[in-house]
Amino acid sequence: MSNPVELLYQEHQVIKKALSNVLGLKNMILENPENYKSELKNYIGFFRNYADKFHHQKEENILFPEMGKKKEHLGDGVIQEMLDNHSDFREMLADIESLNNAGEFDESFKKFEKYNHELLNHIAVEDDEVFQMALSILDSDDLDKIYYRFLDTDSNLGMDNKHAMEKMVN
Ligand SMILES: [Fe+2]
Ligand SMILES: [Fe+2]
Repeated sequence: MSNPVELLYQEHQVIKKALSNVLGLKNMILENPENYKSELKNYIGFFRNYADKFHHQKEENILFPEMGKKKEHLGDGVIQEMLDNHSDFREMLADIESLNNAGEFDESFKKFEKYNHELLNHIAVEDDEVFQMALSILDSDDLDKIYYRFLDTDSNLGMDNKHAMEKMVN
């Protein structure tokens, strides 16, 4: 059996590493603000592409709807909360980007700390609740199909690009 949840779990590890890398840029705000600005810009690109395009898309377009088909009203609870979080994360990133572009580095960092905190909570809920629920309501045939759709999504978006982003973070 191929395990699509494991793929998402591994992406969470990459996203968590990227979050902690950005927290490590704090001293750069004073020491080398231009570097901070360009590093943060790179990571905003990472969160927009890797976390949102590659990762959230697989959850939103494939995993969550498939879970919803198996269990009525699932969409009203924790799944809706996850979708709302994804949309909040998009707004927060846009705010962080505007502040960074405007040279408001302390503010951009403060917003990033909030983004970090909320994204870590989100990942914990998915790892501990949502993914466990997926494994309990989907059978191995469903999981296989989801896994192959995940691989298609990744290859349509570009595996080379995905690997380059993973390398940048690690
Ligand atoms: Fe998510
Ligand atoms: Fe996730």
